[in-house]
Amino acid sequence: MAFFHRRSKREVQIDMARLPRHIAIIMDGNGRWAKRRGLPRKAGHAVGAETFRTVATFAKELGLDYLTVYAFSTENWKRPEDEISSIMALLEKYLHEAIETMAKDRVKMAFFGDLSLLDPKLQALCHETERISRTYDGCQVNICLNYGGRDELLRAAQAFAADCVEGRADPGHLTQAAFSNYLFSAGVPDPDLVIRPSGEVRISNFLLWQSAYSEYYFTDVLWPDFSKKELLRAIADYQGRSRRYGGV
Ligand code: FPP
Repeated sequence: MAFFHRRSKREVQIDMARLPRHIAIIMDGNGRWAKRRGLPRKAGHAVGAETFRTVATFAKELGLDYLTVYAFSTENWKRPEDEISSIMALLEKYLHEAIETMAKDRVKMAFFGDLSLLDPKLQALCHETERISRTYDGCQVNICLNYGGRDELLRAAQAFAADCVEGRADPGHLTQAAFSNYLFSAGVPDPDLVIRPSGEVRISNFLLWQSAYSEYYFTDVLWPDFSKKELLRAIADYQGRSRRYGGV
């Protein structure tokens, strides 16, 4: 299928029969976007949150099965309090809106990360959106909140060790599939494509286990400027690659 864009008139071709099933995105560059405009960092996050809405809606329209976004990492607590509270307030606003629209869209929402450190009101809202959308069968949007790949792996190792102590699991018979079920992403297929905007070329503790065989796509575009067209470009690039999973 070819998508035309009114402004540029240039098309991006993607094959709808070979869509990635799961796309994960590191939403990076909000601060720099704001700085370039002489605005406070929180203005960048506000526009970044709008971009999230556009991209999540487009993911659903395209028919992707899963979209996972990195909204707040275990390391992001090091930021100024004022910036943290503006990100949390945006999340709260978007979750309230999602609750209103998700029944129509059949979008399922889930959270990866330790929510217990969040404000109790935000925790309750996360649990509420998960509960409401549990049976929905549309695109599943996973929001990584207080998420870190190493933290996730440690927690999984601890939970597995506890099951061994209780006699529910046996270290000698642990498989990769069984270990995956101890992760926040239990039941979700690994991402086919991981996108990082903003020109940074690193994975920053994102989906360390799950992205073992993911294709990466890096772009200089800052997250607030990311668009449907950028998503199509990433998908087109992905579709031009040959995935061999270590084979030939
Ligand atoms: C990274 O950019 C962005 C974040 C740490 C926050 C992402 C949060 C949002 C987009 C808003 C809320 C999310 C949802 C799902 C509604 P940065 O601040 O590190 O940018 P920089 O590298 O340019 O400083």
